[in-house]
Amino acid sequence: MANNRTYTMVKPHAVADNQVGGIVKMIEEGGFRIVAMKKTQLTAAQAGKFYEVHAGRPFYGELCEMMSAGPIVAMILEKDNAVADFRTLIGSTDPAEAADGTIRKAFAKSKGENAVHGSDSDENAEIESSFFFSGLERY
Ligand code: TYD
Repeated sequence: MANNRTYTMVKPHAVADNQVGGIVKMIEEGGFRIVAMKKTQLTAAQAGKFYEVHAGRPFYGELCEMMSAGPIVAMILEKDNAVADFRTLIGSTDPAEAADGTIRKAFAKSKGENAVHGSDSDENAEIESSFFFSGLERY
């Protein structure tokens, strides 16, 4: 994938609280085009695979449980410099440290329930996009 795409998902607590619309509004107003989008639910095992890099960290079990507790909304987003610009738009992992105007400042509840995921590299953006979407689902 070229460096103009990233992967995101709205986390279960934010989907359950009807915050998808507000989050998508911030994404589109931030200059991102939605390439792919779907609502789906992860099993705990799938969440474990997605967050494999954190296996062994103290929050891993809770993270897998939280990410499989209800549906998520998955998206591929397009914009120049997508990965870095989206990380800026979502803000710090811990909402207490998230800047004003960021998605996490507006919607996160805690370090774990922090509203959205955002890929941290072009390589991971493609791996994560392919975890959820086929080529035929990307427009
Ligand atoms: P990480 O990749 O460090 O953060 P980010 O989502 O900002 O890229 O961590 C992945 C997820 O793991 C994070 O969104 C929420 C959860 N997490 C915790 O629950 N507690 C923690 O202390 C950390 C660092 C992460």
